[in-house]
Amino acid sequence: MKKYLIHGGRPLYGKVEISGAKNAAVGIIPAALLVNGVCRIGNLPQISDVTLMLNILQELGANVRTMNRSTVEVDCTAIHNHPVAYESGRKIRASYYLLGALLGRFGQAEVPLPGGCDFGGRPIDQHLKGLRALGADVEVKNGFMCAKVEGGRLKGNHIYLDVVTVGATMNVMLAATLADGLTVIENAAKEPHIVDLANFLNSMGAQITGAGTDVIKVRGVEQLHGGEYTIIPDQIEAGTYMAAVAAAGGEVRVNNIIPKHMECITAKLVEMGVEVEEDGDSLIVRRNGPLHRANIKTMPYPGFPTDMQPQIAAVLCLADGTSVVTEGVWDNRFRYTEEFRRMGAKIQVDGKIAIIEGVPQLMAAPVEACDLRAGAALIVGALAAQGISEVGNIRHVERGYEDIVAKLTGIGAQIEVVDLPDPEVQSANAAG
Ligand code: EPU
Repeated sequence: MKKYLIHGGRPLYGKVEISGAKNAAVGIIPAALLVNGVCRIGNLPQISDVTLMLNILQELGANVRTMNRSTVEVDCTAIHNHPVAYESGRKIRASYYLLGALLGRFGQAEVPLPGGCDFGGRPIDQHLKGLRALGADVEVKNGFMCAKVEGGRLKGNHIYLDVVTVGATMNVMLAATLADGLTVIENAAKEPHIVDLANFLNSMGAQITGAGTDVIKVRGVEQLHGGEYTIIPDQIEAGTYMAAVAAAGGEVRVNNIIPKHMECITAKLVEMGVEVEEDGDSLIVRRNGPLHRANIKTMPYPGFPTDMQPQIAAVLCLADGTSVVTEGVWDNRFRYTEEFRRMGAKIQVDGKIAIIEGVPQLMAAPVEACDLRAGAALIVGALAAQGISEVGNIRHVERGYEDIVAKLTGIGAQIEVVDLPDPEVQSANAAG
């Protein structure tokens, strides 16, 4: 069982390079299904969610060539439209984008219901509503989402999303790109990865306007052509390193970011007493003094991102005074707090609200990641904690953070991956 062994309690110094955005990459790779020709995608993060998505495209018949560490060429010209393999599709949340993309290209798609982190219910009703509005018959049967449109081509329509959803906004954009006529998505999500998907599709010949606002217009085109595109930097990866410096102290230059995307996170860190200095496409993050309490409510962009909620909570565990963290996006995203209590944090959770009473010091402990950002938060906590922590279930972290051990080591952290025997297997063997 692989774990991170983290010797905490030492400040971080140096610089760290931020990789391409996971949640943009997992939308842009399926978007290549719509392209007639070769598309070269750069700044792809080397994480397991990206590998899984590229594998699914290959299973569908795409030609995927690795050009270098972060660049692939994808050619979906000769793709076959058979169902996405159950075992592949169910492992990843973003497999729902395959539904919109395959349906847009072939007029028919069968994709397993998605997997991903468990935050309570993760409905897909808005995805299905959007695809139905474009003329598709959609049903869920035997663990698959099955969609089909009579005549083979979707038809543009006016869609009002009932909730602000990243996934449904991107899925409808994908489906509408090759549809007949104009699609208008109202109450659209505005996250940077939505703009990135629109920019990718437009660079291949799509006609999408308004991405980044709450009304997106997609004028369907006959086909997309090949091209070259570079994915934006990962806002959440950058925010996680900023949180690590805030918790452990020190001074780190976070390179290859878009400062505008970081404002919602930067503002809160500054309120908490962290110094953040902008320098071109870098931020210099410094924390020497005490951390102040703050209240945080997660919201769709440009609000404070839910995907930074656990990491910022880790920092607030060390702040002077009591902070209130309200989760405004997911029903159940505080499961990780139980692990923080093992490290001596004082957190009480009541539904979607966590009350955090800061403590002067966290203590090292063996803890388990229950999902991707929970794992990142435990690492942030362990970097600040006195002693040696073990963070288990690291496969969650590997889904979304490229080379996290090397990057943290580069800024002076003492972290290594160890392969320890699984205690449950050991005790079962002893019993057997
Ligand atoms: N929702 C519905 N119906 C739907 C879709 C969503 O009611 O059909 C609700 C959800 O229950 C939730 C809210 O709308 O309350 C927002 O969900 P959204 O669709 O925006 O989430 P998602 O697309 O499934 C993406 C990211 C998540 C991130 C959320 C919110 C990907 C692959 N995942 O999920 O990222 O938390 O947006 O920003 O892009 C992560 O990276 O750790 C992660 C979980």
